[in-house]
This record gives sequence, C-alpha cells and structure tokens, in this order.
Amino acid sequence: MNLTESEIAACSNDFETPFYLYDGDFMEQHYKWLRALTDPAIHFYLSLKANNNLHIVKLFQQWGVGIEVASAGELALALHAGFTADKIIFSGPGKKKSELEFAVGKGIYCIIVESIDELHYIEELAQLENKDVNIAVRINPDQSFGNTAIKMGGVPRQFGIDESMLDSVFDAIGRLRYVKFIGIHVYTGTQNLNADSIIESMKYTVDLGAKIFERYGIVCELINLGGGFGVPYFAHEKPLDIGKITAAVNSYVQHARASLFGQTTFVIESGRFLLAQAAVYVTKVLYRKYSKGEVFIIVDGGMHHHAASTFRGRSIRSNYPMKCIRLQEADWPSEPEKVTIAGPLCTPEDCIGKDIEMPSLYPGDLVYVLNSGAYGLSFSPVHFLGHPTPMEILKREGTHRVIRHRGSAEDLIRNQAALCEI
Ligand SMILES: Cc1ncc(COP(=O)(O)O)c(C=O)c1O
Repeated sequence: MNLTESEIAACSNDFETPFYLYDGDFMEQHYKWLRALTDPAIHFYLSLKANNNLHIVKLFQQWGVGIEVASAGELALALHAGFTADKIIFSGPGKKKSELEFAVGKGIYCIIVESIDELHYIEELAQLENKDVNIAVRINPDQSFGNTAIKMGGVPRQFGIDESMLDSVFDAIGRLRYVKFIGIHVYTGTQNLNADSIIESMKYTVDLGAKIFERYGIVCELINLGGGFGVPYFAHEKPLDIGKITAAVNSYVQHARASLFGQTTFVIESGRFLLAQAAVYVTKVLYRKYSKGEVFIIVDGGMHHHAASTFRGRSIRSNYPMKCIRLQEADWPSEPEKVTIAGPLCTPEDCIGKDIEMPSLYPGDLVYVLNSGAYGLSFSPVHFLGHPTPMEILKREGTHRVIRHRGSAEDLIRNQAALCEI
C-alpha cells in the first residue's frame, strides 16, 4: 500500500480510532498487475469472506472480477454490490437448505457442491422451481501438495468430496434431472507461500478435468483452479513468486484450451492476495504501564476488530508487521525499547505485539498494523466485550471516505429479545 505516515496521522485527527484505512488505488494497481500477468482465459473471483465491505467489493465488481460467496449473507451482499447472478459462485461445506434455495432462486452461475447429500438437496429445490441448476463438484484430491500453511485439501477435511468417490458422484449426477454438472473445483489451502505447491495443485486440477473426460465422457465447462495465494506476514516469510505461478499456469491452461477445453472457463479465487496488503488497522495508545519489569502499551483496538493480527489461538506467536507514529512531545524519550502492545480486552490473547521493539510510546501516539486488508474485521469476534465495531475508510484518488460507520453501544443489544418479551 502507498499510505504515508502523515496521511495516517491526518486520518487519526479526522476520524476516531481505531479504524481500518484502505488504499483503493493500490488495490486497483495490484489487481490489474496480477490480471495482466494471467492468461485472459483465466477469470478471477474475489473471495468475499476475506473482506465483506460493500464498497471494496464494489470496486472489484467494477473491474470485472467475479465473486465467490460462502453464505446467504455474502450472496445478498454480492447482489447488493451489483454483481449479476452469472458472476457468482457459492461454496462452503455447510450450506443450509434455505441458503441453497436462495441461490437456486437467484440463478447464480454455479453452486460448488461439497457432498453427495447437497446434490440431492439442490435437485429437490431445482425441481420445485422447475429449472436447471449449474453445479461444480469440489474435489478433495487423492494427494497433498507441498508444505502449505493451512491445508484444506489432500488431507482428511470437511471440504469437498474425496477424489476416490468420483464414481459415486457421477453415478448420482447421472440420475438427477435438474442438477447440471458444469465442472470441478479444487482448493487446497489458504496463505500458501509455496509457488511450486500452487502450480502443482493447479496442474493437478487441469489434469483431473482430463481424467473426468476419459472416465465419464464429460468435458468440464468450468475448471476452478482454486488459489490460496499467500502474503508474507512474519519476518521469516518471503513473498510468493507470482510470475512463476502465472507463467506455469498460463501454459497449462493454454495447452488445455488447445485440446479438450477450448470452451472451458478457468477460474482462480483470491481474497487474501488481492486485499491484504492494501490496508492498515490504526490504533491509538491509551496507556503506558509496567508489569514486573516489562513495558505494556495499551491501545484502543485489538482482537475484537483484527483477531488475525493478535495471538488468539495461535501456536506460533509471531508479530504481524506493525509500525508506530509518535505524535506526542518530540522531546520525550524515544529510545527503542521492547514492549508488549495489548488491546482493551480481558484476555492475554488480545496482544498485537509481544517483545517488539518500538520507540517509547505515550498516550495519543499511534500503532498501526500492516497487511490488514484481508481477514481483518470479517474474521473477528466483534461482540466480545461490546466495544463498537471500527470505522472503515477508503482512499480513492487522494480522497478519504468513510465506507463503514463506527458501530455503537446499541449494536450489542440489537436482535436480543426485549426483557419484557420473556
Ligand atoms: C473455497 C475457498 N476459496 C477461496 C478462499 C480464499 O482464500 P484466500 O483468501 O487465501 O485467497 C478460501 C479461504 O478459505 C476458500 O475456502
């Protein structure tokens, strides 16, 4: 992102901390750079789970990206943002019948089916509506691909249908009247920084399409290659070699299109890679204190807004990349010191930085977390302790606009039964 410290400081004067600050111009350059490296036959789908801010999602809609949703709520948001039904795919292992009914009613491009029972539910709903429904099957491959951070395929998982069960899947599909098989989806893991394993998984998916033709005589109209492109958060991590991935995958796709898959739509899904580096989460120092010889800096934001950046449930307790801006008297001591940066919640897991070196910080100074554009607010336990949800601010062409208002104390009460009701 290209946000400057003076810009972040100015925003902290204009808007109440804590807040997310997004650089929409960076998002656009970053997406268009990736788009330019990738064969035009490959379509990008934004994974809404990474960030469900309407205005951000809308930017991607304007740039022609499709969208991958994983709940009825996300589907409603995607439609609200202006995505037409033919640009929406719906995945997830636990879709309720009511959610499938919504998707079938809207006639979205494709439902990604993750179990044989789900196929039957869709058939029932499609029959009621008397319409054909496109589905793709998410396949959990027989093999695993490299050492990825968070594996979601190639190992026993709740996602997709095991490759070894393909005969049963096609047997079931062959007996259904309204379900229309259009293709396959393989997604093997998120936050993958291993280019070779992504390449291997995508090649495997293209080859699986060919295998399906050989075995069942069906040419996939859709081959969803997955993604899982990671970004470096911790000091030991290196950026993904995107040039290597796109070169290899472009070549597999071009080869596939020259033979069996000339009419096939190829898809890559991405949330983290498209968004993470485009935002910071900005907090203000409330207190400076000491405990048993250690310095604690207490800030006004933390786990309830940005769980991923804190130590919540993490076995590896590394710090997210973060910086500070000293706004207090310049003549106060500024020697670097090791500190713990903690949020306002009543749990030791609400810790943004542990043993991190910072210049001396005082109330009113700022601490901001980089790489905060993906799995920030959408991945956080916002009700814990009842603090308001943070504002979100978007920079576009030099202007900063509020794109999500700060929450309020009433949010905690909303939807709870009134005391007089029970
Ligand atoms: C099926 C599927 N697609 C896409 C994504 C988005 O992954 P990422 O944000 O790593 O690109 C996920 C994340 O868990 C997923 O489960």
